[in-house]
Amino acid sequence: MFLFLNSGFIKCQVKWIDGNIDEVPVNTGIVLTVGFVPGLKVDVIPLLRQRKAPQGSMIDKFVQDIKSYTSSMSGCTSPQAIIMIGDGSVDQKPILEKLDYAMSMETIIVGDERGQFVYRSSDVSRNVGTNKKHSPDAVALVFARDRNKARGIGNIEFHFALSKGVSAIGPRLKAASVRVQDSYTVTWLTARREGQQEILDGQQMLEDIDNEMENNMDCVDLYIGVTRRRNCSVGSDKPKMMTTLALHGVEGGDSEYLYVDGVGIRTGDYFQFYHSDPKTALSSSRNVSSTLRKLKLDWDSKSSLSKSTIINAVDKKEAFGGFIFSCLGRGESFFGQLNVDSSPFLDNFPRVPVAGTFCGGEIGRGCTSLTANGDEGGSARCHLHVYSTVYLVMLYTPPEH
Ligand SMILES: *[C@@H]1O[C@H](CO)[C@@H](O)[C@H](O)[C@H]1NC(C)=O
Ligand SMILES: *[C@@H]1O[C@H](CO)[C@@H](O)[C@H](O)[C@H]1NC(C)=O
Repeated sequence: MFLFLNSGFIKCQVKWIDGNIDEVPVNTGIVLTVGFVPGLKVDVIPLLRQRKAPQGSMIDKFVQDIKSYTSSMSGCTSPQAIIMIGDGSVDQKPILEKLDYAMSMETIIVGDERGQFVYRSSDVSRNVGTNKKHSPDAVALVFARDRNKARGIGNIEFHFALSKGVSAIGPRLKAASVRVQDSYTVTWLTARREGQQEILDGQQMLEDIDNEMENNMDCVDLYIGVTRRRNCSVGSDKPKMMTTLALHGVEGGDSEYLYVDGVGIRTGDYFQFYHSDPKTALSSSRNVSSTLRKLKLDWDSKSSLSKSTIINAVDKKEAFGGFIFSCLGRGESFFGQLNVDSSPFLDNFPRVPVAGTFCGGEIGRGCTSLTANGDEGGSARCHLHVYSTVYLVMLYTPPEH
């Protein structure tokens, strides 16, 4: 309706394609062409890696590029929302950590942690040249408020919701020894239970979890959620302590170590096991649905109040579009029923356009009561999810007369 006018003002394009699922290449994706968006400025900002430069400084540049673009368009450094697609071969955790550090709590970030994409930015210096000297580690579609918007144009608001799909299980553990394999993709670790001296190897940890699950461990995907307390900074900004929950897939365990994917775990970090859980996912999906319904009733009641004083009955917030990023592991076989993840959006906003993609890791950062992040690791914030579905709902409010 208001967004994605495919007019002559095409500014950027994002296209992403699902990766290889079970080694079968899937050549499908979404082409997103953004035209004129009332009240917002939109552009694509990539994280371009240079072979020789350290990753940290390239992430800093990415965050600074987003901030300076946003500030030139809106006068403040945090955008309203970012749709981000990460390159599957690159660890997105440090990138999200720095974005979280640098952006205001109101900035919503959603997307696919392990996608494939091509893009074109309106700033040609950001596009990858034919010589491939740079390759993008991630790309951000940035929605910034337009400080020069014309009178008579309303506002676009973004809302975020998350349906989680994992549950914590077993006691809190503390990493005792941590080794990273040469390939830098797998971490080997041992652990202690809180307050105990005994060192647990991989087999012992997994047996404990299998007992807790009444020998059903083989039917689920297992993760560990590591509480990371790290000093974080961008450029020369003052470092700040950030506490995040990082989920790592469990690859196995033996009489020496537990093996998990990814890196960045340190000796002394606390962690807990998590397992994929359709019951939690279904309950969480219903909660998302009812919260979106409440949100909608809330606008409707507010706009009917204003209708008594304002003659124009069209003065009403209206959802005009949405995006859904859903884990590949969800779907009919996970829930035992169809369309669970699309229904919170479709039931509440019938006839509103929505686009979505399955992901191998969902990016979801938003400040809302819908996140239910509270029980994922206490006060630790989690922005890279597994077995989840992330919703971005877009609303338009016409200008006041
Ligand atoms: C974080 O930085 C502060 C001061 O720069 C330092 O005192 C503290 O030990 C650091 N913490 C960690 C976990 O690195
Ligand atoms: C859904 O909401 C109910 C009621 O607020 C709550 O008890 C339950 O834990 C929620 N489910 C999930 C998975 O967050």
